[in-house]
Amino acid sequence: MSIIKNDFEKMNVTKIKNFKNNKKLTMITAYDALFAKLFEEIADMILVGDSLNMSFAGKPDTLSATLEQMIYHTNAVCTGAPKAFTILDMPFGTYINKDEALTNAIKVYQKTNAAAIKIEGGEDRAHIVEHLTSNSIAVMGHIGLMPQYVRSEGGYKVRGKTIEDTEQLVRDAIAIEKAGAFAIVVEGVMSEAAKKITEAISIPTIGIGAGKVTDGQVLVWSDMLGFFEDFKPKFVRHYMKGAQEVKEAINQYRNDVQEASFPAKEEEY
Ligand code: KIV
Repeated sequence: MSIIKNDFEKMNVTKIKNFKNNKKLTMITAYDALFAKLFEEIADMILVGDSLNMSFAGKPDTLSATLEQMIYHTNAVCTGAPKAFTILDMPFGTYINKDEALTNAIKVYQKTNAAAIKIEGGEDRAHIVEHLTSNSIAVMGHIGLMPQYVRSEGGYKVRGKTIEDTEQLVRDAIAIEKAGAFAIVVEGVMSEAAKKITEAISIPTIGIGAGKVTDGQVLVWSDMLGFFEDFKPKFVRHYMKGAQEVKEAINQYRNDVQEASFPAKEEEY
């Protein structure tokens, strides 16, 4: 089946900001050229998420991803999908202060064609976002449940369950917008709180586990295509049964090999 997309437009930060109150944004993760090419003309943005440390490398969390690995995967994605608006997720420990953040962001721009970087943090990291954006780095923020805080927070905790926490999240979003970010990922947040955040700022919010009130959605590709079988978080929708289909196909291949029905005459030289 071919999907003919005649409204594909190459994105930039201005166009992305214009989605606010206009049209919903669709973002998906990718870690390699093959899948990035499939997503290129359909999704509005591709995120090379540090979730690759889990989905690709099989690690228990995102914390051990390195900048070199993120650069390697971003180059693969940008090669497969040169027309995509690709965002590199800055890994844990690469933006601990504003100077280090800028040095590492410049390295990303010098070594990849990433259009932007993403960093986790709210009011506490706004000064870092401000330093990056005032030095011409396009920054996507990330607030709410922040996977890079998993060990310091003692787990993955849904945010915005109390008025106080909701108010903190709104302050985080406003601080990151003021610091010059062009959009903010809002992860693992009660939908009422996500609504307050979305209404409080004039840049798009991209939700994951934050309900439908945000200005767009992001999902990890292997989750949404059903390749990850260990568990299904509540907010993930499976758009295909990836793991099952792959296993059935490999099983069919093995049977064909065992029966010597593969390769057939027309598959020989
Ligand atoms: O690393 C990632 O894939 C992310 C998304 C889930 C937003 O940060």
